[in-house]
Amino acid sequence: MKPRKICDGVYWMGAVDWNRRLFDSLVPLPDGTSYNAYLVRGSERTVLIDAADPAMADVLKGQLAHVKRIDYVISQHSEQDHSGAIPMVLEMYKEAIVLCTPKAKDLLMDHLGISAERIQTVSDGETLELGGKTLRFIYTPWVHWPETMSTYLPEDRIVFTGDFLGSHIAMSGLYAGDDPYVIEAAKRYYAEIMMPFRKVIQNNLKKLRELEFDLIAPSHGPIYDHPEGILSAYDGWVSDRVLNQVVIPYISMHGSTEAMVSYLVSALAERGVTVYKFELSTTDIGKLAMALVDAATIVIGTPTVHLGPHPSVFSATHLANALRPKLKHAAIIGSYGWGTKAAEQLASLIPNLKVEMLDTVLCKGLPTEATFAELEALADVIRDKHAQLAD
Ligand code: FEO
Repeated sequence: MKPRKICDGVYWMGAVDWNRRLFDSLVPLPDGTSYNAYLVRGSERTVLIDAADPAMADVLKGQLAHVKRIDYVISQHSEQDHSGAIPMVLEMYKEAIVLCTPKAKDLLMDHLGISAERIQTVSDGETLELGGKTLRFIYTPWVHWPETMSTYLPEDRIVFTGDFLGSHIAMSGLYAGDDPYVIEAAKRYYAEIMMPFRKVIQNNLKKLRELEFDLIAPSHGPIYDHPEGILSAYDGWVSDRVLNQVVIPYISMHGSTEAMVSYLVSALAERGVTVYKFELSTTDIGKLAMALVDAATIVIGTPTVHLGPHPSVFSATHLANALRPKLKHAAIIGSYGWGTKAAEQLASLIPNLKVEMLDTVLCKGLPTEATFAELEALADVIRDKHAQLAD
């Protein structure tokens, strides 16, 4: 993709990665992604905001072929998918200096071996005059590393936000418009990497809302030309409000846990509770993470393997704990063969979840009428707890 003009003196650069299907060897990318860089040219200085993933550095190199001078590279985030091509840019432009937060300086030196002499730090609110254009640096930390910042260009009413508000989505268009699928992709992105820092992100949103802009230009996915859509979506995701929803990640070995989960899904549905059910041998963990953004309750379903939970359930529970969703309640259900410590082991895996543990429902072998009665009772409790949340 060639550079694309956003307005006079401001260009999208970077790479659209249509084929990437996994990030961090963990996060599914069903729609690919992009690594957005932005060139901002004033009458006196030219800057590049962020770079690209090293795997696509050649794309950026080609886009820069006709750019004679870069005075500064703004590194808003030190993770390699945006900073990895900075050493190449510094090699191309011997006079260029990297501008970043103090925390980013250490990270860029550690991760990329950039020398200290090529880096200058900026403070929160500091400005840089480019000649007819001004950049203001806005600290927006913990999205999802500690050093992150955004950059505001008031003359053109654009805010560049790095990972913040981005989406893993490859598309030929430059702008999101009102496409609900972009908001869906942004929710997936928030769930997978931003959710653990929800409280800090609330503050970052407030800081952004103090600015006046028409465009939000993130480092992944399309530019938001109707910014209120993504901002109001984020307001809901980071709020303390939970919804009348239950998420059930589970797996079954011989069908008994499956029968229990299916029964509970039906019982909850009869009580007006929305359920998201994820069979962990096939599920997309990004979908599971998305479901955890707003749900009030998680019910973990597991068979027992060597006295403990099934390893796939162990892994998903560990992930849920790391993502720190705003869940209020949790329960464990499942079947076992001859003995179990699965419930105790699972409960010990979720210290980050500030949840009330509801009654565990376990059965030996096939679920019985007594098991189904316990599941009915669990569904009653969940309905009642959710009704209180709505008050
Ligand atoms: Fe897109 Fe945290 O890097």
